[in-house]
Amino acid sequence: MKISIIGTGYVGLVTGACFAEVGHHVVCVDSDPAKVALLQAGGMPIYEPDLEDLVARNVAAGRLCFSNSTVEGVEKSDVIFIAVPTPPLPDGSVDLSFIERVAREIAGAMTSYKIIVDKSTVPVNTGEKVAETIKRYCKARVEFDIASNPEFLREGFAVGDLMKPDRIVVGVRSPRPVAAMKEIYAPFQAPIIVTDINSAELIKHAANSFLALKISYINAISVLCEASGANVQEVANGMGMDARIGRRFLDASLGFGGSCFPKDLGAFIKISEQLGYDFRLLREVQAINADQMARFVKKITDTLWVLKGKRLGVLGLAFKQNTDDVRQSPAIELCHRLLREGAILRVHDPKAMGKARAVLPDVTYVDDMNEVAEGCDALIVATEWPEFKQLDLERVRKCLTHPILFDGRNLFDVREMEALGFIYKSIGR
Ligand code: UGA
Repeated sequence: MKISIIGTGYVGLVTGACFAEVGHHVVCVDSDPAKVALLQAGGMPIYEPDLEDLVARNVAAGRLCFSNSTVEGVEKSDVIFIAVPTPPLPDGSVDLSFIERVAREIAGAMTSYKIIVDKSTVPVNTGEKVAETIKRYCKARVEFDIASNPEFLREGFAVGDLMKPDRIVVGVRSPRPVAAMKEIYAPFQAPIIVTDINSAELIKHAANSFLALKISYINAISVLCEASGANVQEVANGMGMDARIGRRFLDASLGFGGSCFPKDLGAFIKISEQLGYDFRLLREVQAINADQMARFVKKITDTLWVLKGKRLGVLGLAFKQNTDDVRQSPAIELCHRLLREGAILRVHDPKAMGKARAVLPDVTYVDDMNEVAEGCDALIVATEWPEFKQLDLERVRKCLTHPILFDGRNLFDVREMEALGFIYKSIGR
C-alpha cells in the first residue's frame, strides 16, 4: 500500500517505520523542517529501542522517506494517517487545532479518492468533524473516506507493540475503506476489530483511563499495605493470577506520568462532562495519583526532616523505563519538589539526561549510576529502569553519608536491602 503519515512524533515515526518494514511504501511528513532534515540525514529525534535500525533499513530499501510537505504526502499515497499531537488545553479539554489544520491541508491537496485515518488520540465525535472539514476545504469534488485507528503502543516498547499488537481497532462510516485497512494490517497478524468511528475513538480513552485506574487502584492498596504491614507486591501477585484481573499494570509506584495517561484522563473526564456525565471514578484516579507523589515526598521528609542543604541522589528522570521522554515525568516533578525544599540534587538517567537538562537545569548530572550517591544524605529511585537493579549496592552504601534509600519503584528486595545495612523505604512494603 502507498501510505503517508502526517506527524512524525513517537506514534507517527514508529508507525511509519513498521508499515515500511512489512512492505508498504511510506512517506512520513512533519511540519518541523529541523526534524525532517535530521531524519533525512539518518538522525533520530527520539530514543526508542530498535527504531534507529528499523528506520535506516527501510530508508535504504526505498520504502520509507521523510518530507515537509503534506501535499507531497497526499499525492504519493492512497491512505493518509493523521498522527499529530492533541495536547491538553488549560481546562483539561483537548486542543484539536493541529488535527483541524492537517485536515484542511489534506483537503486542499486531494485530487483523487483517499482514505484519511485518524491515529491521534481524539475525543469521541472528532471523526465527524474531520469529515466535515475535509468536505468543506476540498477544492475539487473528490471522494474520500475517513477512519479511526487508535494506537495502543507504549513508549519504550513501541516497535514491539506495533509489530505484535494485541488488537487493531478500525472505526469506519461505510464498508469501502475496510479492505484497504485490512490489507495494511494483514502482515501484523492481529485480530482486527471493525466498528463505528465513535466507538473506535472511545475505545482509546476508555482503555488508557482503565489502565491508569489499575495503577491508582494498586497505589491505594499500597497505602493499606503500609498501614497494615502487608506487602503490595504479594497482593498484586495474588490478585494478578486471576485471569480476569491480570498482573500487568499492578506495580505500585510514586505515580504514573507521561504524555498520555495524565492528559487522556483529564480529557476523558472533560469529554464525559460535555456528554452530561460526571465521571467521578476517574477524578478519584487523578486524586490518588497526586496523593502518591505527596506521600512519597512525605516519606523522604519524615526520614530526613529538613531538606534544605541536604544532598540527594536521584536515579531516573524519564517518566518510565526504556525512554528518553521526560514529559509529565513523576521523576522530574519529584526533583522540582525536592529543589523547592532546598535540597541539592545529583541525578542520573540512562537515556533522558539530554532532554531533562531543558526542564531541570539546577542539578548535577552524573554519567555513572554508581557515582550518583557520592557524598549524598540519601539515594532515591524514581524511574523503573531495569539497569538500576544492577547497582553496586555495596559501593553505593559506602559513598552515602547515611545509608538511606527511597525506592519509588520497588526495584529491590526489602530483606536484602536491610541485610546490606540500608534504611530502605519503598512503596506499600
Ligand atoms: C500508555 C498506554 O500504556 C499505551 O497503551 C498507549 O498507547 C499510550 O499510553 C498512548 O496513549 O499513546 P505510555 O504512556 O507509553 O503508554 O506508558 P505506560 O507503559 O502505559 O506507562 C505510563 C505510566 O504509568 C508510567 O509513568 C509508568 O511508570 C506508570 N506505571 C505503569 C506504573 O506506575 N505502574 C504500572 O504498573 C505500570
